[in-house]
Amino acid sequence: MTTIISIANFKGGVGKTTSTINIGAGLAKKKKKVLLIDLDPQFNLSQSLGINEAEKPIYGALRGQYPLEPINVTKNLDVVPSSLDLIKAQIELSHEFKRESILTKLLEPIKERYDFILLDCPPSLGLLTINAFVASDKIFVPIESEFLALKGYTILGEAISQVGLEIDKVFITRYDSRKILNRNVHDSVKDALKEKAFKTVIRSNVTLAEAPSNGIDIYRYSPKSNGAKDYGALVKEVIAYCK
Ligand SMILES: Nc1ncnc2c1ncn2[C@@H]1O[C@H](COP(=O)(O)OP(=O)(O)O)[C@@H](O)[C@H]1O
Ligand SMILES: [Mg+2]
Repeated sequence: MTTIISIANFKGGVGKTTSTINIGAGLAKKKKKVLLIDLDPQFNLSQSLGINEAEKPIYGALRGQYPLEPINVTKNLDVVPSSLDLIKAQIELSHEFKRESILTKLLEPIKERYDFILLDCPPSLGLLTINAFVASDKIFVPIESEFLALKGYTILGEAISQVGLEIDKVFITRYDSRKILNRNVHDSVKDALKEKAFKTVIRSNVTLAEAPSNGIDIYRYSPKSNGAKDYGALVKEVIAYCK
């Protein structure tokens, strides 16, 4: 069985891409077969894995030019990269028949090869994000422990419910226990979301920001770092939750 998960938040900079890579690489380390799909025209995920110019990026596949052609990154971990021209897809695809389920159709012939497919969403509710949601079994939302984080979560939840879906899990990223505000938001997230929140909190950790410039995940870049520990713990929760 394949579990397809969207990692989404309409806000940028909350750790969607970092989480997609490091949850994905962590699952791969646990011998799960994993595919990451970069759905952001800014292609940060692709670049963070060392892919700057993809031969067959997601854009052409969405436009019907070729099937999805995953590239192998490391053992058990594949990626379908993105490119700047994906920005055109939002408008071009709006004229297509069944435009919300183009990605679902593209995934059909290859999804059985994988245990997990993670979709790194752009920071907006456009056609790309809708395609990700429609293709997904689960929606995970990373949030920063900052002021208004819960408000953003509520807005996202409302938008997602309009397409008949719901947020499955939330987790806190970039957490700094020295900041009172971070601690307060963490408490209110725990109170408000209860079992919807993963127990693991991803701490702020500079190695998580450094790893992408080396084109590798946190487990290869700095296996003893807090970043590797936190994402490792989150991966265990994800596996248990998706059983
Ligand atoms: N836990 C963390 N600790 C430190 N820096 C982080 C952490 N998570 C993400 N970052 C950094 O914050 C920036 C935004 O993260 P990113 O994953 O690209 O967010 P998004 O995909 O939501 O826009 C990046 O520079 C990333 O390296
Ligand atoms: Mg991103």
